[in-house]
Amino acid sequence: MKFIVDQQVEDIEMPENLKLNTFLQEFHSTCSHPECSFGFYGFAFGQSPFPVPKPIQEALIKNADKGAYAPVPGISELRNAISKYNKHYFRIDVSPERIYVGPGTKELIFNLLEVLHGTVILPTPAWLGYLPQIRFLKKNYHMLPTRANRKISPNDLRKLALRLQDRQKILILNNPNNPTGLLYNELELEEITDVCREQDITVISDEIYAQTTYNFSKFVSMGKIYPEGTFVTNGLSKSHAAGGYRLGYVIFPSHAIDLKKQFKKILATEYTAVSTPIQHAAIAGFEISKEIDEYFDITRNVHQIMGEYTYHALSAIDGIKITKPDATFYLLADFNAFAIDLQKSKIDTSQKLSEALIVHPYHTAIVGGDSLVLERSDFSARIAYVDYDGAKVYQNYLNNKPKSSSEKIEFVKNNAPRIVAGIEKIQRFFEDIKMTSSNISQNQKSSMMTPS
Ligand SMILES: Cc1ncc(COP(=O)(O)O)c(C=O)c1O
Repeated sequence: MKFIVDQQVEDIEMPENLKLNTFLQEFHSTCSHPECSFGFYGFAFGQSPFPVPKPIQEALIKNADKGAYAPVPGISELRNAISKYNKHYFRIDVSPERIYVGPGTKELIFNLLEVLHGTVILPTPAWLGYLPQIRFLKKNYHMLPTRANRKISPNDLRKLALRLQDRQKILILNNPNNPTGLLYNELELEEITDVCREQDITVISDEIYAQTTYNFSKFVSMGKIYPEGTFVTNGLSKSHAAGGYRLGYVIFPSHAIDLKKQFKKILATEYTAVSTPIQHAAIAGFEISKEIDEYFDITRNVHQIMGEYTYHALSAIDGIKITKPDATFYLLADFNAFAIDLQKSKIDTSQKLSEALIVHPYHTAIVGGDSLVLERSDFSARIAYVDYDGAKVYQNYLNNKPKSSSEKIEFVKNNAPRIVAGIEKIQRFFEDIKMTSSNISQNQKSSMMTPS
């Protein structure tokens, strides 16, 4: 029997994150060197390593008997809890009616892109999840490359919007940002909002990393600055280390009543509702409690300690430019200063750089620039600093909180030796690349001087 695949599916590529998984798995199975048996230093996976908070786990067990379908937008207790959560943590006053629950923010962003007509503006570098969705939906889109500070330039946004003919433009704002770890401050959001108001741009503000902001009082939601034009998405995946629960939510703009009806049709057609026990469990995650608050505090402090270590250790390698993360568990490393040396070793794309780093003797997995919607020849990469045993590290932090800079460095060395060793491998890789490059140059010089 021959199955014919729909052309729409044939036309799209495997999303970059799945391509990356396959690549890493295949590497694992074919490498026969003894050192390969331990795998690789994992700077590629964007997953919080901590355990799911106990109250969520307990609520899930308690609600395992809930077999009935839930209402399409989510159960009212959960929407109420999310409303209070947003008021408490993000200082935005949204009624539960403006909140819809879905199976992860990835799905909700996809649903929003299905419902909203218009051209998508995608600032780059970007999380690897957006582009496959935009392509699948065959939407018009334009990249908006960021400048040296790696943030959206309001002027560039205005210039691009003026060129677009579409009746509606949709900006995907990811704040705090994956892959850079950077946070937009209030003024920057206001400047972007001015352009959005002037040019009638709708915003999807993906704030899935909001709760990881190291100096939490600095986080400002776009839903507060531009309430009439922003769809805010957030969920359990990063803040509560529960990506596998598949629960996210979207907050609709203040006057989007008609749109909510259209959205409901989409959700009802595609997945009816999120699993009912999961929704009950999520209530425990969004309710304001001392336990969850402490969990946020500890996890964001550990992310910050790991991030600062990674930032300083990578910055010490001559030539590498790094974003200094304000949030998340990522930073963006720019290796373009090595472009000529890399090219001499036949590494001329970021994909080839990822491949060269994963093999023996470096064993280091990164996400290369082409997966971050950068040019293929841009030698930038996302470095995730989560390769440690989250449950153990959580407990160790609780038992003995490091305070001084030297205690924090010790904490990383004791608790995340793979991060420390992985960075040393990256350093060694670039030392080797430079050495190979200078050997090639010397050989070329001496062959030019040798009389024929
Ligand atoms: C920026 C960003 N948005 C959305 C998601 C997906 O979140 P969810 O698990 O809620 O679908 C991720 C996950 O890696 C992400 O990094």
